[in-house]
Amino acid sequence: MQQEQKQAAALKAAEYIRDNMILGLGTGSTAYYLIRRAGELVKEGMRLKAVATSRSSEKLAEEFGIPVTDINEVPRIDLTIDGVDEIDPDFEAVKGGGGALTREKITAYHSKQVIWIMDHRKQVLKLGAFPLPVEVLPFGWRLLSEKIQSLGYTPILRIENGQAYRTDNGNYILDIHSPSPAGYRKLSGLLRSYPGVVETGYFPAVCSRIIVADSAGVRVLEN
Ligand code: 5RP
Repeated sequence: MQQEQKQAAALKAAEYIRDNMILGLGTGSTAYYLIRRAGELVKEGMRLKAVATSRSSEKLAEEFGIPVTDINEVPRIDLTIDGVDEIDPDFEAVKGGGGALTREKITAYHSKQVIWIMDHRKQVLKLGAFPLPVEVLPFGWRLLSEKIQSLGYTPILRIENGQAYRTDNGNYILDIHSPSPAGYRKLSGLLRSYPGVVETGYFPAVCSRIIVADSAGVRVLEN
């Protein structure tokens, strides 16, 4: 059911793709359906180029026949379509559950249009249940983590296959559990001032619309 909803949101978002667009491809299980659909559009004759927010999305895009270009080689990004981990009524979001937050934020920032796609479980009244992912340099991460802990937060080093998870940029992720769920914007600003913090998964409302699927269908909400 959840997968069907993710797919429904992705298919709706694909209706905003136009010929000759340079697309930003998000990362995650919802973005998967979008990439698959974009591949079909290419097969149907649409001329698309893509930049990917992660190596995994780049690989998927290539499998589905979408021409992928390095972000430094494109003159613009017309439309980025990506998933979220949590989103509030003001369209502020937490992303980075898949570890791609920094590339996702850079891609969104440089996009003319951003659409976030999701099943309805991602919608919350206040951000905070999903821990805030923070990409940090491996150098000094432990002292940085202790610093964050001394402020009353609980940072957990993300582990994968028994080892510290590495982002596509070669960095670590600290997942920060916050005692004050309303405060991700402020927390993000503070964390970004610390040496060694590359980026946080708090996203201001950079999207132009969100597409939410539930058992009743798909809703498009404009920002
Ligand atoms: C990856 C992300 C994803 O967009 C987010 O984790 C949502 O993933 P999914 O669509 O699998 O629920 O931010 O870094």
